[in-house]
Amino acid sequence: MNKLTKCLINKDPCLPVWFMRQAGRHLPEFRKIRLNNPNFMKLCSTSNLCTEITLQPVIRYNLDAAIIFSDILMVPYALGQNVEFEKGKGPKLSKFNIENFLKITEEDFTRKLNPIYEAIKKTRSQLDKNINLIAFVGSPWTLIVYMLGFKLDKKNLDLDIVDAKKKDLDFLFKHLTKFICLHIKNQIDAGADVIQIFDSWAGLIPKKNLVSYCYAPNLKLVEFCKKENIPAICFPKGIKENYLDFLKIVKPEGLSIDYDLDPEWARKNLEGPCIQGGMDPKVLLEEDKKIFSAATKYLQIFKNYPYIFNLGHGLLPETNPEKVNKLVNFVRNY
Ligand code: CP3
Repeated sequence: MNKLTKCLINKDPCLPVWFMRQAGRHLPEFRKIRLNNPNFMKLCSTSNLCTEITLQPVIRYNLDAAIIFSDILMVPYALGQNVEFEKGKGPKLSKFNIENFLKITEEDFTRKLNPIYEAIKKTRSQLDKNINLIAFVGSPWTLIVYMLGFKLDKKNLDLDIVDAKKKDLDFLFKHLTKFICLHIKNQIDAGADVIQIFDSWAGLIPKKNLVSYCYAPNLKLVEFCKKENIPAICFPKGIKENYLDFLKIVKPEGLSIDYDLDPEWARKNLEGPCIQGGMDPKVLLEEDKKIFSAATKYLQIFKNYPYIFNLGHGLLPETNPEKVNKLVNFVRNY
């Protein structure tokens, strides 16, 4: 059994290490490929390159897991929405259209995402057998935020737009889960052995809607993973002390904590799952001493505990790979 699986399923305190967003952005070898591939969705649909990018951080660092190079927005893309990335502006999706959505069959969806499944197969065949291969999906809410254009800026949701799009919102919560589960299933069949579920915008949900927009949809995905016998790690970013209710309802094998959550509080209150991450990715932009002292804090709090070393969100694009390397070695020698 690989380290991540051991930690998630057997609750073995073997301290696996990997990083969210380890594939891409911060790596010069990724940027070189990206320069020749200006269309990001097309790059995510080119399996050879996805395999190459997935393996880049594993070649550079001493990690316990690879995460497949792809994007959560491949699901809306396969459901008929155009997805574009304007430099410095984030993703831009074409207007959501229920009629188009209803025309997409499960076969169409799987066919369009087939390059991801091919990339997983190729990666698995080239990856050391002791290293886990993580596949991922976005939760319904986080996908809907992009699909219906809810986001005003990093912290705010336009509640008027949310109200105006109530019909689309209800429709999507009802029908999106089926396709996300299909994407999970296809990725497992291709060779992924852990599923990470990103609910990156859970922190924007008003408290009164957390059950219906966050806990219930995540529970459906986790139950699906349990049925498929694969461990799931949930990341409901930004929900603060509501992590406790999330855990009580959703009960995933792994729970990824963000940098806003006090790790002492998490250690005391989030009993049951394997805990992942927490350290602020911005710390990696500081001098070594600060990096090691921040890492030590997490390592001490989660000593002899089923803990996966990771960050409280993805590696930032401006991170120096040499710092990441030093951090991995520090954790290994701890
Ligand atoms: O973790 C990995 O290294 C695997 C690859 C991966 C990407 N996106 C590649 C990517 C993963 C796991 C994701 C997940 C993702 N995508 C999330 C959830 C995780 C999180 O960070 O909260 C979200 C919200 C997205 C949506 C998305 N994709 C945004 C907002 C952006 C633009 C800004 C950014 O993050 O870079 C993307 C583009 C994207 N996805 C890039 C990469 C390497 C950058 C593309 C570029 O080079 O311009």
